[in-house]
Amino acid sequence: MQKILDAYQLVGYCSTFFDRMMANADLLARLALKIFWGLDAAAYQKFLAQAFAGIPKNFGGRLLEVPVGTGVLSLPIYQKLDAEIFCVDYSDKMLDAAKVRASQMNLRGVKFLQGDVAKLPFADNFFDAVLSINGFHVFPDKNSAWTETYRVLKSGGTFSGCMYVKGENRRTDFFVENFCDRQGFFSPPHETFASLQKKLSERYARAEITNVESFAGFVCTK
Ligand SMILES: C[S@@+](CC[C@H](N)C(=O)[O-])C[C@H]1O[C@@H](n2cnc3c(N)ncnc32)[C@H](O)[C@@H]1O
Repeated sequence: MQKILDAYQLVGYCSTFFDRMMANADLLARLALKIFWGLDAAAYQKFLAQAFAGIPKNFGGRLLEVPVGTGVLSLPIYQKLDAEIFCVDYSDKMLDAAKVRASQMNLRGVKFLQGDVAKLPFADNFFDAVLSINGFHVFPDKNSAWTETYRVLKSGGTFSGCMYVKGENRRTDFFVENFCDRQGFFSPPHETFASLQKKLSERYARAEITNVESFAGFVCTK
């Protein structure tokens, strides 16, 4: 966990490049997304749509997002919702960046909490929706993360988001293994599309899994 924390504390300090890449904001980001992740402009839009497929435009319940990171992808969505939203991340530096963004967007009512997905500080069946964007390929204790995100979700609630899966793009897999895993940005072992499908189908009453290149999207009903 310390290696992951160190890596994301650093990202939090200099969040600008991370944010620009996540938001596909400029030429360098577009090149990085294409070369390392196989995502051109059209595929990036599909990736975004897939990541948020489980959150309806009129969602008005209680939502947990873990990990929120700097909130670069999710806070613009929250601006359009009238919902009770809790955002959790282990790195206080990533959270600081998210809080600055929320205040610049004048986004009130979103609560930010430092915490570990493996030990969520919420009661059982507390949320109508749990969202996890680019988290499960990072979390070191994946078993606890699957268990905890399930535990805090109400029966009939939606667990959705996206994550890296190996075996879809050889260049991405090489980059993940030799850079992201080694530098502590990701934590192996990684799921494949098939293993993720099996895992979610066994746990949830309904599970729909899609993919855009090496990113699997999931929308599951408890
Ligand atoms: C790749 S970032 C994704 C952030 C955001 N969802 C996004 O897509 O922009 C991964 C995040 O996971 C957080 N993280 C890592 N381990 C965690 C844990 N055990 N509990 C909560 N957050 C964790 C990191 O601090 C980092 O902010």
